[in-house]
Amino acid sequence: MKRQSFALPPGTEVQQVPLRQPALQRMRRRRLANALVTAVAVGAATACGGGSAGVGTDAASTEAAQKALVEQGKQIFRFDTFGDEAKWTDTLRMHEVIASVVDPLTAFSVGLKVDAEALPEAIANGIRNGTIDLKSPATTVALLKLNAVVGIKGTVETVNGADRLTRVGITCALCHSTVDNSFAPGIGKRLDGWPNRDLDPGAIIALSPAIDEAMKKVLNAWGAGKYDPRHNIDGLGKPVVIPPAFGLAGIHRITFTGDGEDIMYWNRYVAVSQMGGLGSVSEPRLNIAITNGSVDLVTSKLPALQAYQLSLGAPPPPAGSFDPAAALRGKAIFEGAGRCATCHSGPAFTDANSLLHPPGDSMAEPENPSYAARSATRQYRTTPLKGVWQHPPYFHDGSAATLPEVVTTYNTKRGLGLSSQDIADLAEYLKSL
Ligand code: HEC
Ligand code: HEC
Repeated sequence: MKRQSFALPPGTEVQQVPLRQPALQRMRRRRLANALVTAVAVGAATACGGGSAGVGTDAASTEAAQKALVEQGKQIFRFDTFGDEAKWTDTLRMHEVIASVVDPLTAFSVGLKVDAEALPEAIANGIRNGTIDLKSPATTVALLKLNAVVGIKGTVETVNGADRLTRVGITCALCHSTVDNSFAPGIGKRLDGWPNRDLDPGAIIALSPAIDEAMKKVLNAWGAGKYDPRHNIDGLGKPVVIPPAFGLAGIHRITFTGDGEDIMYWNRYVAVSQMGGLGSVSEPRLNIAITNGSVDLVTSKLPALQAYQLSLGAPPPPAGSFDPAAALRGKAIFEGAGRCATCHSGPAFTDANSLLHPPGDSMAEPENPSYAARSATRQYRTTPLKGVWQHPPYFHDGSAATLPEVVTTYNTKRGLGLSSQDIADLAEYLKSL
């Protein structure tokens, strides 16, 4: 049986979302966020055919507008590169690397995921029965043409009947989505907001021919599920785990160190300073002001992008994944002898909205270099715990492999005097959140 890479019909197009762009430039980010959300939502709803509906007064139309905004944000989260091809194509030349050496098996080995729902039946069958060659980079290019590689957006042009990858960029989904493996390992339905802890961003970037050996060494040392969003700012090296982008509704301190009051703050930072999107970010506390390009492809998208993330609830624990009786005992320890609830308080299990904590309150400290010391606040936010079962390892540096290990660390460092039964019960409770 001959294996072959598959080709898509020329002109297979990737979906593009039209965006309304309210004039944002003079607006103060946080104060005007809500006004923006409404404005963009109304624009989006109008675009969807609700043109004559009353604006703002009618509850149904407000709800429809909100839904449209969230849907728009989903498209941005999954498919928008903010023009970061300038970095990933023009500077890093990743399109050449992908087309020449990144066959699908290699892609899976560095944690890339494929969206099964983007695969036409014939292709899905070809993967199932082995007639599609997963060892050919041409197959990767074909998958990119289908917009099926989670978080990577390729432009594929057909030249003399052959597909050529001419541009490549990344989206938020690269790090903050995974798949449910329902089709095969690495191939399944998208799970937006779930951190991709298989993804090895350092190893991926290190494939670039534009990176020197010293830098490759740094990048290759990061490891799967981790990324250092401050390395290119301060030159220091210590990655953090990729966190979930779900379960953040009602929390007004974003990132491990609570740098921003809303998701938009950090999304702008990441889109411009890390992804290489076109636009600007400035952060006086870190003494940075970055502008990429001469257009702004970021600002107008932030309200919708934020609305989508706020719509992503933490996933409930899978049925049968914890012992309910033990979890109930663990709850009493969480609120009592473990003193966990003094910081992990309220519905999201965090006191983030009222205070941040000195570095010593993180069980991962002291570390060198300290992540807090590299941040805008120089402190840590109490991590919200909803859905915590889903994303080991724990703490910002991933130093605790499991939830029992988290509890053991607290027990030792904070001298809680918990018995091994208490520790097991408390871990069961954490699994149930
Ligand atoms: C290369 C991987 C990568 C990409 C791409 C990426 N992020 Fe992140 N993201 C991270 C890491 C690592 C952190 C942790 C930083 C911290 O907390 O200090 C983070 C933090 C966050 C947080 C904070 C979560 C919390 O608990 O407060 C949100 C929200 C988020 N990212 C959303 C996004 C969005 C939206 C995009 C696209 C604009 C994006 N990220 C692109 C790696 C990535
Ligand atoms: C003094 C405040 C404080 C107390 C008390 C506290 N925590 Fe935390 N917790 C934090 C902070 C701050 C972090 C973030 C640390 C980091 O990532 O470096 C955190 C992180 C965690 C995490 C990791 C979450 C993740 O996604 O990585 C878990 C789990 C956790 N705490 C559980 C507990 C349990 C169980 C207790 C009680 C035994 C407890 N905490 C007591 C402040 C506290």
